[in-house]
Amino acid sequence: MLDLILVAWLSICAFYLWSDRRRIYLSFKIPGPTISETVNMLINTKLEDIYQEALNLYGKFPKICKIWTGPKLFVVVNDADNLHKILTSPSLSNKKFPYDFLRTIYGDGLITSSGLKHTIQRKQADPMFTLKAVEGYYSKLTKHTNVFIEKMGSKVDGPSFEVMDYLSEHLCNQTLDIIVGIDNNFENVQLEAPFTYELIKQIVHYFALRLQNFLHYPDFIYKLTKNYSEVIKLKEISNRWYSVLRKEKLPPILEKLKREKLTGVEEEDETMYERMIRNHMAYPKQLTEKDIEHQIYTLIAANQDTTVIATTMAVMMLGTHPKIQEKALNEIQSVVGDSSDITISDVHKFIYLEMCIKETLRLFPGAVYITRYVQTEFNLDEWVIPADCTLVLSIIKPHLSEEHWEKPKEFYPEHFLPEATSKRHPNAYFPFSLGPRRCIATTYAFVNMKLLLARILQNYLITSDLKFSELKFQYRISVTCTSGHMIKLTSRKRQ
Ligand code: HEM
Repeated sequence: MLDLILVAWLSICAFYLWSDRRRIYLSFKIPGPTISETVNMLINTKLEDIYQEALNLYGKFPKICKIWTGPKLFVVVNDADNLHKILTSPSLSNKKFPYDFLRTIYGDGLITSSGLKHTIQRKQADPMFTLKAVEGYYSKLTKHTNVFIEKMGSKVDGPSFEVMDYLSEHLCNQTLDIIVGIDNNFENVQLEAPFTYELIKQIVHYFALRLQNFLHYPDFIYKLTKNYSEVIKLKEISNRWYSVLRKEKLPPILEKLKREKLTGVEEEDETMYERMIRNHMAYPKQLTEKDIEHQIYTLIAANQDTTVIATTMAVMMLGTHPKIQEKALNEIQSVVGDSSDITISDVHKFIYLEMCIKETLRLFPGAVYITRYVQTEFNLDEWVIPADCTLVLSIIKPHLSEEHWEKPKEFYPEHFLPEATSKRHPNAYFPFSLGPRRCIATTYAFVNMKLLLARILQNYLITSDLKFSELKFQYRISVTCTSGHMIKLTSRKRQ
């Protein structure tokens, strides 16, 4: 009997290997860590350190390297030219792993969708992020920033505090107002309660946990875990939140559209939700109400994790580099003096501050790796990349490469002086990704971060008990400090 089971099992394995022979054959031509190195890393690494260890292991391969985890084949791409080639290729813009993990909550929003669905969504969403659209959101950006600056006043001359918590709450409130028109600071609608930054933090937390544990990759196993039940609870909270939002916000939008039809005068859209409803009314099949719900979750989350980390790390960098902080402040004062009334055209003039943000995103990009799914095999240099594999595209590798940067491990905003940029490899820097899946909100993110940092610097001197050389970083989905993001504030206002 045992013999029979063994024969059956070997036959299944042989069949599987035979039917997958092309993928296996091509993968063996791609360099990669040995099986023992991989097993060693998987067995000996604590789950929370697996990203860092993988980075060390795959980083040894200058161009590309393959890694098998069970039946899943990953090809990590490290060099700037190949990354550029892949990211700008429309035929390589599809996403599967690990974006599938996010679908449970976000559905098929812009970040997770692929193919025609993504093309249609992107076309509809692009106008919400043009410079003109950002100018339309600017008064809300400043209103929320002013509230935040005032709240930070309670920290002046106090002990060190974790700045990320404050920034998360602020950016969540601000985003909710701009995307759906809920103002947590001034209203007391029952809508705001569940969709706080804590909820988003939890969603990202469970996503990261699943990513770190390859035993949880297959859906049929993950659905048996406690983490899955927790994710479902978060999904239910999000769904309840959305149905209240719809009930409160949809009728006035429909009224407005009716009014426009009667008067023939188009009123301005105040929120992204309004614009989406308008698109839905015009093209109900292309953008369904379900799509709108998914898009809203996607935009709130996409803003939260990236902008929060970028501004937190920028504050940390300025706090640990006093001379750079003073230089950024001098520039701000030369443009607006001490005035708290910073216009969007003032923001465009903060060139050095922008260099500080760019340098922050070089060291700490919002995503360390991004992935793409390969549907049809293709050539990359001397290799053939097989179909049905996941490309793991390293944003961080070219960002930290000695080949491209004068001081790769230091915080050195001068990397972004025009003369340095013109001499550098054109594909060495892409914190917002490139090509058809590049970030939709680069302009929005820069305007918001520059305004926020300028207002912080105008009001407070940032210091930190830690030196830059003492900071330790953890590389997960993004890069953060292991010891937290502790800063102190002193008022700059003359008494
Ligand atoms: C410092 C801030 C930000 C950084 C560093 C950043 C970075 C990125 C990166 C690397 C991607 C590509 C992801 C991938 O290919 O898997 C991306 C895509 C995206 N980002 Fe951002 N992002 C930032 C801010 C924002 C904000 C504020 C929003 C929205 C309010 C946003 C919305 C999106 C969306 C919707 C996509 C998907 C685009 C598509 O696939 O067509 N991002 N972002």
